Amino acid sequence: MTDSTNDPLVIFTPSGKRGHVPAGTKVLDAARHLGVDLDSVCGGRGICSKCQVTPSYGEFPKHGIHVAEDALSEWNRVEERYDRVRGLKDGRRLGCQAEVQGDVVIDVPPESQVHRQVVRKEADKRTVHMDPATRLFYIEVEEPHLATTTGDFQRVKEALRDQFRIEGVTAPLSILGRLQKVLRKGEWKVTVALHKGHRDHEWQVIDIWPGLREDNLWGLAIDLGSTTIAAHLVNLSDGTVEASAGVMNPQIRYGEDLMSRVSYSMMNPGGDQEMTRAVRKALNELVTNLGDQSGVDTNDIVEAVIVCNPVMHHLLLGIDPFELGQAPFAPATNESISIPLREIDITTANIEGQLFILPIIAGHVGADSAAVALAEEPSKSDDLVLIVDVGTNAELLLGDREQVLACSSPTGPALEGAQISSGQRAAPGAIERVEIDPVTKEPRFKVIGSDRWSDEPGFSMDITHSGITGICGSGIIEVVAEMRVAGIVDKHGLIGSAEQTGTARCVPDGRTHSYLLHDDSANGGPKIMVTQADIRAIQLAKSALYAGAELLMEEKGVDHVDRVVLAGAFGAHISPKHAMILGMFPDVPLDRVRSAGNAAGTGARIALCSVAARAEIEHEVRVINKIETAIAPNFQDFFVGANGIPHLTAPFENLSKIVTLPQVEFNASPHSHPRRRRRPEPVEG
Ligand code: FES
Repeated sequence: MTDSTNDPLVIFTPSGKRGHVPAGTKVLDAARHLGVDLDSVCGGRGICSKCQVTPSYGEFPKHGIHVAEDALSEWNRVEERYDRVRGLKDGRRLGCQAEVQGDVVIDVPPESQVHRQVVRKEADKRTVHMDPATRLFYIEVEEPHLATTTGDFQRVKEALRDQFRIEGVTAPLSILGRLQKVLRKGEWKVTVALHKGHRDHEWQVIDIWPGLREDNLWGLAIDLGSTTIAAHLVNLSDGTVEASAGVMNPQIRYGEDLMSRVSYSMMNPGGDQEMTRAVRKALNELVTNLGDQSGVDTNDIVEAVIVCNPVMHHLLLGIDPFELGQAPFAPATNESISIPLREIDITTANIEGQLFILPIIAGHVGADSAAVALAEEPSKSDDLVLIVDVGTNAELLLGDREQVLACSSPTGPALEGAQISSGQRAAPGAIERVEIDPVTKEPRFKVIGSDRWSDEPGFSMDITHSGITGICGSGIIEVVAEMRVAGIVDKHGLIGSAEQTGTARCVPDGRTHSYLLHDDSANGGPKIMVTQADIRAIQLAKSALYAGAELLMEEKGVDHVDRVVLAGAFGAHISPKHAMILGMFPDVPLDRVRSAGNAAGTGARIALCSVAARAEIEHEVRVINKIETAIAPNFQDFFVGANGIPHLTAPFENLSKIVTLPQVEFNASPHSHPRRRRRPEPVEG
């Protein structure tokens, strides 16, 4: 097609792309010629309706043109039939039928764009450009004749080449086995689902249906965590989530944290395979569950993207995680993985469904962090952002447009309520929020399952079934921070005695003291205490987190960050103010701390919807500067300083503008002085 200025001018909106095309050019062809994103599944045969456009008529001073009533050809028989049978919205035309006859302005509505933008619901308005790896193509295939010698699949390939300019198509045996029947049933008209491979001209047939298939294809975005597995069923046409489901990771029975799972596999021959089987079974059950929940035929699930930490990654893929358990923590591969789902025994989705696993950033920083980077885009940030994904291991990203750095820090499970005397998982009955009156030192709290504070009428009714059973991760952070603000705990993390603090809730406990948060022992219920050992466990965890951040800041050559993003399901529940009182991350203005919810899951969804996003994160992971905390010389010093609440030396000026921390100091016993604490052992993940 040549551009002659005597030819009609076509202007497409909203892209603004414009150019001259010869009179008689189909709108769909003009769009392709000008690089306009206009969908077509049927290749212009007037049956899929994906190519709908809305022409505009009249004066367009902005564009300097007048669009006459006859700028497009009159409705033809195909459009009339389509309108009669299926109905076309007012003002719409089929782009593959309408021909350009004069200057015209043509709007491409969002649903006709292949790469439409989907704005995420979350606060930051990140848009996802729909560009899924698997798409549908309707083709008409030449029938075989006695004189022809080509096979049916070769003629399918020719049809894809001639009708969609797609080359390099392969088909697995399962498709070749069904192909001939489907072609004949569809009278040589079929719809194929093609999966775009990692390289150009690499397409694979995933499925094939007789005639035109109009139903959507589906994909799974899976966040495979060490504790829970969360999966979203995503419509590959528009990126919307149809259903979500989660299960506990069944590997928990082999060890709560990741290192204990690595140890299990080291000490039990075949233990890694046991864990591999367990997680694959759980994934199959999740797929079935999502299908049941949504009514979607699981055969129509043609893709999955999984994000996970390196140990989960290896165990899922059936790779022994042994090397991840010891320095230098080398993963078997840190590149992305593209394989058929059946290679990891996921048989409940489409038999030819494909799996993509994001690349690992480093031996301790997984594909889940890569997904967080994809969702939060630190490399596009004008200001310096610290992203903290809090879990058994904290994974940290620090960066801006110039450079992004990453590390993982061995926080251990204390921040999730584990290793805490009254700690428990976030479940009904768990204390999740705490306030302590700084004068009376009396606490009140909220438990999961009730919206009321414990001193409000109706609270007892709310918790009739669950009771008050323990403290979950967000609760332990709040109670320790509140104890510090109320002067029950000093800067070194020591709990004072009843005399020192002025409350009988501080009771002797061996050589230390504990704070009585809730006592239901008179009714046979639990006595929920915060012990000195609990505070120490929290100090160790938060010091590791803070020291990791400080290490990244040192490497970057900065003494502050501009904002903090808390990622991870746990991050979503942390109170930023209490986290800052504890000194979990460097001091910033409180309004510069934001929770990003499950950013890893969001990153998985973005990668599922966009092959371009996959390429983007593969590039980014290669250029992220990875810092290994286990061998960093200054980590220990940073760790010791961070043992203070909020810190032994850092001034925390922003925090002091909103909270006054009492200058209390309780007798530090030589056994409990934080300077004698050792850094925790590395925990993988
Ligand atoms: Fe299918 Fe126009 S491209 S109806």
